[in-house]
Amino acid sequence: MKILVTAGPTREPLDPVRFLGNRSSGKMGYAFAEALMAAGHQVVLVSGPVALKSPSRVKVIAVETAREMLAACRREWPGCDGLVAAAAVADWRPAKTARKKLDGSGPRTLSLVPNPDILATLARRKGNRQVVGFALQDRNGEKKALMKLEKKGMDWVILNGLVAQGASSAEVVLLGKDGSREKIGPSPKKILAKALVRRLFPSP
Ligand code: CTP
Repeated sequence: MKILVTAGPTREPLDPVRFLGNRSSGKMGYAFAEALMAAGHQVVLVSGPVALKSPSRVKVIAVETAREMLAACRREWPGCDGLVAAAAVADWRPAKTARKKLDGSGPRTLSLVPNPDILATLARRKGNRQVVGFALQDRNGEKKALMKLEKKGMDWVILNGLVAQGASSAEVVLLGKDGSREKIGPSPKKILAKALVRRLFPSP
């Protein structure tokens, strides 16, 4: 199978030198891409800016903003058989991007507009392809993750502990739209990704 994977943060520019971003390392998405390759699949990895080496033999499309990520995913999605959305897409972007560097003196109020939801957009054209997304654990984690699964049209949601961001080890709960529930880990993200791939995209 050919699987589309999104990974890393997005950067939403305020001006030519400043951006809004987040602390996503991209490790989970990259580990997924590697585990999918190891299981005999092809991978297209659409990645925000990260400090990680591209997995070998993976087609990597580097993007910065959520809208660039969406455009790249839209181009690739028709040729793919499944989606793993591991990117930490910025929820908002500045309403305006200044063409010249903004004057740094004094207070400033930012106006933000919502970014498109990449996973939900692709899931609307999923057909019988498998769509997997992530959710971050907080209070009522599982209930909220299942609501997110329903709302965005996922088949599976991987519920990540808050400690997961940036760390190399994590514990997850895999929740299926069929009501299944499986706890995996705590393990290093690479081992976790392998276990998840075995479960979600078994070797051809
Ligand atoms: N996602 C996406 N496009 C967005 C936002 C999120 O594709 N604009 C995907 C993410 O890659 C992830 C899933 O949707 O697979 C859930 O992300 P999100 O809605 O941000 O949920 P949480 O991480 O749980 O955080 P919160 O609800 O607090 O924003």
